[in-house]
Amino acid sequence: MKNTQTLFSPITIGKLTLNGRVIKSAMVETLCSKEGFVTAGLIEHYQQIARGGTPLIITGAANYNSYGRGVPHQLSVDNDDKIEGLSKLTQAVHELGGKIFAQIYHTSRQALPAPVGRTDAVAPSAVYEPSLGVSPRALTLTEIKQNILEFAQAAKRCQLAGFDGVQIHAAHGYLISGFLTPHTNRRKDQYGGSFDNRIRFLLEIYQAVRKEVGADFPLILKLNGSDDLLFRKGLRTSELVKIALRLEQVGIDGIEITAGHYESGTTFSRGRWSGFTKTMLKHGLGPSLAPFRRIGMGLFAPLVDCYFNKISKFSVGFNLNYAKEFTKVLSIPVICVGGLNTKQAMQQALDNGDCDIVAVARGFIADPYLYRNMQQNMAGPQCTYCNKCFARPGVQPLNCYDPKVAAQRTAMLKQPLFIQKSDAS
Ligand SMILES: Cc1cc2nc3c(=O)[nH]c(=O)nc-3n(C[C@H](O)[C@H](O)[C@H](O)COP(=O)(O)O)c2cc1C
Repeated sequence: MKNTQTLFSPITIGKLTLNGRVIKSAMVETLCSKEGFVTAGLIEHYQQIARGGTPLIITGAANYNSYGRGVPHQLSVDNDDKIEGLSKLTQAVHELGGKIFAQIYHTSRQALPAPVGRTDAVAPSAVYEPSLGVSPRALTLTEIKQNILEFAQAAKRCQLAGFDGVQIHAAHGYLISGFLTPHTNRRKDQYGGSFDNRIRFLLEIYQAVRKEVGADFPLILKLNGSDDLLFRKGLRTSELVKIALRLEQVGIDGIEITAGHYESGTTFSRGRWSGFTKTMLKHGLGPSLAPFRRIGMGLFAPLVDCYFNKISKFSVGFNLNYAKEFTKVLSIPVICVGGLNTKQAMQQALDNGDCDIVAVARGFIADPYLYRNMQQNMAGPQCTYCNKCFARPGVQPLNCYDPKVAAQRTAMLKQPLFIQKSDAS
């Protein structure tokens, strides 16, 4: 059925009403202290996006225990000593009329252990991660139970700090996603094997979180629409839709659709990869890679970029085909993220009934006022999906590193915000 809503029509997630249907998707900010405490820089980052009238901000992935931490300087919700800073962040966003969810995750096998002060990594099973060269060990049953408990405690912490909701990150090959996917979950116990067993970790996390935060606190999920794991036992859309239906049955309030694991070529951030490898080696986590991998990548950088340009090529609205399969069968709001940063493409996604809400990540880095600019028919800086921001997490702050777009952004942010046309549509 055709959707008659505009990008600026209100929509409800659980008991929370958003004043529009374009939200900011999670991006690791690299703006926190080394231990993951909120800083003035992080608050300013989100104030800019809130000033732009953005109906909902989702923070970058925040870890709930030390094994779950992916990169230095990312947000952490692992301890009560973080609540004070988190409260300052939510207050700053609320004062500007914004709403903010925390995204909670566990990095599992998709992080280099050394930069975050670990010597090893954990995963559902001991399956080698080829893109970073990480060999994790399998979690014990006791550790699984501990993770469920810690996830729920972290969600409660976020509620106490004033967040308007929590997003459970069950996508991109991180821990929960790793449990769902047969390629990464080879367990023989009650958490591996059948569909019911592979979904158990996610369901137990959801139930533990719900118990902590109560029935009225909005909880949403980020889930792949496809694992994009060619020649491996990845999940296809039909099975992921079944997972979403099960979560809807137990009470999840909304679901954001994305795709891919690291080893599928990070198809969740499809973009233009020319120059990516050299940038990552120089300005990102490259120096922390094993020497043979770093040297090899340096020698073959143009080939590596070329490979990524093939398997993780940009296209407008690159997850819409998956999202629409979820929208067909779910009653809760379906959010689609990926390659949507023009008003026309976003409105078309709603008009086609592909999703109920559009999420934007890199577009908000290029233009923190994206929402207000669209509302007022103003042309703001446009993300080119050059992925230079994606080459830097953990080392350099989340920002726009396309020189031309960054210059436009700086100029825009210097202008007074409200001297704009009033013909909001
Ligand atoms: C620098 C960077 C950091 C990201 N960090 C996260 C994250 O913390 N959690 C997450 O779910 N996705 C993360 N993503 C993926 C985005 O949320 C989004 O799914 C992806 O970029 C596609 O959306 P876009 O085309 O609007 O950028 C990140 C992407 C980028 C570029």
